[in-house]
Amino acid sequence: MEQIEKQEKRIMLTGDRPTGKLHIGHYVGSLRRRVELQEAGGFDEMYVMIADTQALTDNAGNPQKVRDNVIEVALDYLSVGLDPEKTTIFVQSHVPQLFELTCYYLDLVTLSRLERNPTVKNELAQREFGESIPAGFLCYPVSQASDITAFGANIVPVGEDQAPMIEQCNEIVHKFNSLYGETLVPAKIMLPENDACKRLPGTDGKAKMSKSLGNCIYLSDDAKTVSKKVMTMFTDPTHLRIEDPGHTENNPVFIYLSAFVKDEHFQKFLPQYHNFEELKAHYERGGLGDVTVKRFLADVLNDTLEPIRQRRKHFEANIPEVYRILEEGSIKAAQKANETVMKVRRALGVNYFENKKLIEKQSKAYKKKLADEEKMNAYLAKQKKAN
Ligand code: TRP
Repeated sequence: MEQIEKQEKRIMLTGDRPTGKLHIGHYVGSLRRRVELQEAGGFDEMYVMIADTQALTDNAGNPQKVRDNVIEVALDYLSVGLDPEKTTIFVQSHVPQLFELTCYYLDLVTLSRLERNPTVKNELAQREFGESIPAGFLCYPVSQASDITAFGANIVPVGEDQAPMIEQCNEIVHKFNSLYGETLVPAKIMLPENDACKRLPGTDGKAKMSKSLGNCIYLSDDAKTVSKKVMTMFTDPTHLRIEDPGHTENNPVFIYLSAFVKDEHFQKFLPQYHNFEELKAHYERGGLGDVTVKRFLADVLNDTLEPIRQRRKHFEANIPEVYRILEEGSIKAAQKANETVMKVRRALGVNYFENKKLIEKQSKAYKKKLADEEKMNAYLAKQKKAN
């Protein structure tokens, strides 16, 4: 009975590596949705993790980068509206139970399976490890399976690139359960809903926003910086004069708009249009200039980011409070993870110290052995005397 109830609980877990501050691509791709899910209240438990240990798997030589970005990501989380009262925000390194699980799971995974993981393969291609791949990096899908299963998370909202991670996690779940009995809960991926939201291109039109390409708009950028970045954005290269028909597809300005704009933004900033469809139609038939569209986009972005900036300001003035939130979240997360660790230890039979039956059985066996030895000794002594 208890088992069934537990299975039906809706538990969400997701996280980010703290290797940089978060940008508007993260916002539309994941953060916005997390806050919506939090506010909708459809989950029994929600966890958001700052994956510092995972970030170290390819930053072992630069722990300061990871350390500095833990607070950046925490500020980003709190400023978009993740609420520690509703969502447990925690730091991976401070939940040691995860690493115990990882050690058990590592025995259920082959090296070749890890090497075939498409996400790992992809990331290896982007890094220059050569022959020196850190073992921790190659194995991070296993540690990610621990992150998920430790909380019994059955819903994991992540980008498409993480699908192979969830798949490998579930392989571990099934292997564990089939070897040791039903213990772990399989997870389902929850992908972003809207195509435009899956991945925002960079401001330069490159496929991805990336810090190293300098084509990101950060959640922490002020209004002026955002406007400046938008005005330099790549648009439709065939749209040379205002009268020319323009393309809205593959046009980063329109992709950003599709991810952010609401009808009310038109009333507020561009009342000559009622909605996005009208604006797009005008651009496509010609007669609408890039500058007008860019100014509108800057207004839309700043309107969206303003409440985020206000909350950030509050937390920036209270940094010790932010660390306290992370500490309390980590303590809470560790308690939850500990329940899973105890179940896993029981399933594996390594729960020596709480296992009264085991202690009794071993104790009895050894008592018998001692008694037998004593008997034998007494017999031998008697024999010796007799001789
Ligand atoms: N791998 C994820 C990323 O790079 C971060 C992450 C770590 C994660 N553990 C997780 C995401 C568990 C979801 C669930 O963004």
